[in-house]
Amino acid sequence: MLGNLIRDRGRPGRRGYTLPKLDVQKTDLEKVLPEGSLRREKPGLAEVDEPTVLRHYTNLSRENWGIDTNFYPLGSCTMKHNPRANEAAAAAPGFAGLHPSQPATQVQGALKVMHELQGFLAEISGLPAVSLQPMAGAQGELTSILMIKRYFEDGGDGERTTVLVPSTAHGTNPATASMAGFDSEEIGLDERGCVDVAELREKVDGTTAALMITNPNTCGVYERNIAEIADVLHEAGAFLYMDGANMNANVGRVRPADAGVDVMHFNLHKTFSTPHGGGGPGSGAIACSAVLAPFRPDPVVEKDRDGYALVRPGKTIGRVAGFHGNFGVILKAWNYIKMHGPELKENTDLAVLNANYVRARLKGTYRIPYEGPCKHEVVVQPPKGKKALDIAKGLIDHGFHPPTVYFPLVVKEAMLIEPTETESKETLDDFVGAMLELAEMGPEELEEAPTNAPTRRLDEARAARKLKARW
Ligand SMILES: Cc1ncc(COP(=O)(O)O)c(C=O)c1O
Repeated sequence: MLGNLIRDRGRPGRRGYTLPKLDVQKTDLEKVLPEGSLRREKPGLAEVDEPTVLRHYTNLSRENWGIDTNFYPLGSCTMKHNPRANEAAAAAPGFAGLHPSQPATQVQGALKVMHELQGFLAEISGLPAVSLQPMAGAQGELTSILMIKRYFEDGGDGERTTVLVPSTAHGTNPATASMAGFDSEEIGLDERGCVDVAELREKVDGTTAALMITNPNTCGVYERNIAEIADVLHEAGAFLYMDGANMNANVGRVRPADAGVDVMHFNLHKTFSTPHGGGGPGSGAIACSAVLAPFRPDPVVEKDRDGYALVRPGKTIGRVAGFHGNFGVILKAWNYIKMHGPELKENTDLAVLNANYVRARLKGTYRIPYEGPCKHEVVVQPPKGKKALDIAKGLIDHGFHPPTVYFPLVVKEAMLIEPTETESKETLDDFVGAMLELAEMGPEELEEAPTNAPTRRLDEARAARKLKARW
């Protein structure tokens, strides 16, 4: 019986390759390698033929869920289709063969891409200065808040010790505030799911450094009072930072600077596409006002008469990542923006339309905590007596990746659905059909799901605490 591991399928002497005969003189490795570094035994790899290797890894890849295999409406993550043209651009030898230590004179094309992307992000945000260095959304947050911190240290405008964070915020926001050395203080919501401006007014004072706002927020609700919120902060000498993870609802329609935002991060890997499941790769590029520009991380790309150059901003907070940031993601974002051009705003409209379509079809069966149209994602609650976790597991049996569940924390049994603009009405109808079917099932039956996945329900706490990664 063949086992599941590739080594179970191996037989001594079986080969998946043939190498040409050696046509150069054989080197005596004993003489050239440092003592003790030459392997004495064979490495113990599986001895298998090529079809076996191919089937083994193809079958393993099929057990993986991805945007290329299934609808993936993971709220707050923008799991949209990743155009293959991006991959082709990133694999072009002129880019793929570069080394980050090459001098600027040899990489003018790559620097041009970075410079153009800086310009695109400035145009999209309305903020004049950009840095592409941070390698994830969370790092973009930290970079922005460190820049604000350095601004106050530099100008000495009172002792700013607090960063305010709405209760809808992603967990990385308060984590950022405390990693940057601030106390974080929570601001609650009003009945529409927006920041409670009265509470904000009470909490803002001379110790406030910034408010970290996500707009639309993680309930898919647009912060209608954003301009007033910005005024409250600015009157107190504080900054408005925007978490731009939800820019998929804004691009081409809302420029954060027009709403009073001073600094923001983009999740390039969400809004402008890049396969990014499982923690990477990402890019958390930031954009900021002229006041904060000198504090941007080192380096940024500038253009002068002689071409493109890497430049250290005058009062930089220093480096936040190696070399130029995550160049592969930067390149894909540039390619994506170039491909779509002004049509990007139609993508935004479609993302919002798709979320509202799902919302309208689920309404009545699922509970919708916030009235009014949503933005690019919608938060729903299962019918009374049903659990979000059970519905999520049931969706796996229907061939769908579950939405984000139990986030945002402010909504009990939350299911945060983000369909994105790249899904067809037919896919959305299938998904809604499955959601409606699951809502009709009895709790005991639902607790059995998933029944046709490679694994059933895991004890997630045990899997995390007592991880056994060996077969
Ligand atoms: C609202 C929000 N902010 C910040 C982040 C952090 O982004 P990243 O995962 O790239 O660090 C996320 C990620 O899911 C998010 O949804």
